[in-house]
Amino acid sequence: MATKFRTIDEQGYFPFAASKLVIGTTIPFDIHQKQGGMFELLFEFGTEYTAMTRDFLVQKSLKELYVSDEDKPVLESYLSKGFSESTSILESSRAFKDYTFQKDKYYQIDRQMLIQGAEVHFSIYVMKNYVYSQLLHATPEHAVTISEKILDARGELLIPQADVPLYNEYLSSLLRSDKMKGKDAGKLKALLIRENSKIIIKDLFDNPRSGEKIKQTQAMVGEMIDSIMENKDTIYDLLSIRGYDYYTYTHSVNVCVLSVGLGVAVNLNQMQVEMLGIGAMLHDIGKSVIPQEIVNKQGKLDDTEYRIIKTHVAEGEKILKENHRLSPDSLSAVTQHHEKISGKGYPLRLAAKDITLCGRITAIADCYDALTTTRPYRQSLSPFKALGIIAKETGNYDPDLLRVFVKMLGKI
Ligand SMILES: [Fe+2]
Ligand SMILES: [Fe+2]
Repeated sequence: MATKFRTIDEQGYFPFAASKLVIGTTIPFDIHQKQGGMFELLFEFGTEYTAMTRDFLVQKSLKELYVSDEDKPVLESYLSKGFSESTSILESSRAFKDYTFQKDKYYQIDRQMLIQGAEVHFSIYVMKNYVYSQLLHATPEHAVTISEKILDARGELLIPQADVPLYNEYLSSLLRSDKMKGKDAGKLKALLIRENSKIIIKDLFDNPRSGEKIKQTQAMVGEMIDSIMENKDTIYDLLSIRGYDYYTYTHSVNVCVLSVGLGVAVNLNQMQVEMLGIGAMLHDIGKSVIPQEIVNKQGKLDDTEYRIIKTHVAEGEKILKENHRLSPDSLSAVTQHHEKISGKGYPLRLAAKDITLCGRITAIADCYDALTTTRPYRQSLSPFKALGIIAKETGNYDPDLLRVFVKMLGKI
């Protein structure tokens, strides 16, 4: 985050009480804090003010905040709005605990898969500001039609974990339906492959030693690549959904799509792209054996936790070597995706071209996806901002690949 400093002697900042900020609103101005006699940018305009953001301010005892004089009219108009709906949100720390507890009970779906008028047998929930609410209740016996209201719901859509097989059936029926003959058929098919990949990779994380699941994963990556090779623009459809809450399976598929896109952009052949895609899809498989409290921790990791999370690289290598025959290129995406060009990565502190091409590509894709995914302690960055940050990381990531990556994503 960019930081602006200014001494306190200078005029130009206007104080207001942090308690005036309303949960569930988007803050239309930059917020500054006063620290050691200086003003420092705390949140950029456009930040969504959530229960988590409030917890953060409480923890840091930040009761008084500042806007620049230029933003004062914007602050005044914000304060005069008298937001009604969201002030009654659950006690923030309770909302935080509930969210952490409930997160694993839900499965993240792509709203583009929901087609108005279609009948579904699974229930749908929406998560907004870390609170889950039911949008639609359906059962295997009782189907419900997707209405406009469902499609208009703001927030992230999820289904109960137990309903994933029903969702999977729905996806198959979609594949057989007339929708696959319309003008958007190509895009829909690509998104269907994406949703299927998520289900398969989630299954694999639940059973990391299953040979069957890994074969399905490989087949799925193959299908995804075929559809991209058929029509290169498919890649942009596959990359179109950003800013989701973090789930390992969604992250795995995103990193796979981004890596494949970069692989195609640097003219790897189909075989090479496939090796890359499989490795990228499996890059975090080692996280399946790390305690989930650490993987899903909704805050900064302490030193011990960080040491443990880093072992996911060696664990991933172990799982894949023991149980599955993977090409050396694919395997290197798993073992080297946290290495840095500067030699400051892990686990081997490899530098520059000692890192394989698959490792260098997956590292860029991994970093970009992390920046554009929402975490409770920070908003997801827009692709534009994420690219701005990553483009400066030429010491850590392959500068030639970075250039191609930025150009590729600039087209979204
Ligand atoms: Fe990783
Ligand atoms: Fe990752």
